[in-house]
Amino acid sequence: MSEDIKKGLAGVIADSTAVSKVNPETNSLLYRGYPVQELAQTQPFEAVAYLLWNGELPTDEQLAALRETERKHRALAPEVKAVIDGLPLEAHPMDELRTALSAIGASDTAGSASVLDSTGTPEENLERSVRLFAALPAIVAYGQRRRRGESSIEPRSDLDYSANFLWMTFGEEAHPAVVDAFNRSMILYAEHSFNASTFTARVITSTMSDLYSAVVGAVGALKGPLHGGANEAVLHIFDEIGSADNVVPWLDKALAEKRKIMGFGHRVYKRGDSRVPTMKAALDTLIEHYDRRDVEALYDTLESEFVNRKGIYPNLDYPSGPAYNLIGFDTVTFTPLFVASRVTGWTAHILEQQASNALIRPLSAYNGPDERHIDGYVPSEAELDAANREEESA
Ligand code: COA
Repeated sequence: MSEDIKKGLAGVIADSTAVSKVNPETNSLLYRGYPVQELAQTQPFEAVAYLLWNGELPTDEQLAALRETERKHRALAPEVKAVIDGLPLEAHPMDELRTALSAIGASDTAGSASVLDSTGTPEENLERSVRLFAALPAIVAYGQRRRRGESSIEPRSDLDYSANFLWMTFGEEAHPAVVDAFNRSMILYAEHSFNASTFTARVITSTMSDLYSAVVGAVGALKGPLHGGANEAVLHIFDEIGSADNVVPWLDKALAEKRKIMGFGHRVYKRGDSRVPTMKAALDTLIEHYDRRDVEALYDTLESEFVNRKGIYPNLDYPSGPAYNLIGFDTVTFTPLFVASRVTGWTAHILEQQASNALIRPLSAYNGPDERHIDGYVPSEAELDAANREEESA
């Protein structure tokens, strides 16, 4: 029996998807057929969100319509702000964000009369997807400013998604090079087939639960350091190491202690993550813009030392962690930034799962104690009949 178990579902093809294709052989990641690096270098994030939801890049009119809706739903509702304000300042931003999304879900009372109505139509769920996409920058920005004791900043409807995100977080217009690097990171994080959080969203959707529940569950899965939490963890490692001179002794000790080096390795890509070169180029622009050669030295030294010793390559979290740090985001905000991006992929998968649903319910191999009984328990006739039926049908 044990040889049939695919621990961690490694290598299992659980369903088909048209949203993205990960090909570890060619190191490529395609969103609806387009290589992600081409999208990241040519498109605004809003256009990529449209592509993930609808299967095609938008025309100018379609992009304008999406932008108009997105701008309309940028501001946080007072009741959502009140929920966030009720949380301790020490709460992790992922817990804060998960709670805010849950509050947004509970405030959308369409379909709340019965669980039978909660699934919603494809049109309703696409609208919900756009509204969550629009609200997430405000949640992330509001949280960072709250923790810093700064007052919140209203969205600017004359700015595109990425520029407005940075405006709401920092209260000043970001340099175009910074907006471009941030926009690229949002596109690179948007989608990655059946990763743990997307699969969680699909499992929840498969029970015909609602879109908000699926997204909230996905946030929980993304929080773990083996998944989305790694970009935050990379910065902790950088802080621990301090400077490039300290990489070798730090790595000697970390490997002797059998520590996992965050930002390296991938379940699917074994010869390098296809998103890294594009994000590394964005990081290089930021290093240049902020004149931080020290970051470059630490980054390059750790990468070459680790790859030489272990043959394990960086994943997207490795360049994006320092990039978000240079832009000015607090380290604890990095995984929420990942959510703001990945909500597009999650919701595209939720829509796809709803369009062709089968309840996701695998089997398990039992390895607990053999059957045993409570002393003196006498089964009823009905229980004995049911047990006999099971035996007959086995
Ligand atoms: N640091 C140190 N060793 C690592 C490593 C890392 N980042 N990633 C993999 N390894 C080692 C494992 O310890 C294992 O060694 P062993 O065979 O001696 O036990 C070997 O490489 C195989 O790795 P494995 O854990 O089986 O790979 P996986 O496919 O199950 O795991 C990750 C993939 C992502 C969970 C793993 O690489 C990891 O934990 N990386 C750090 C966290 C991270 O950056 N996550 C973001 C992913 S996008």
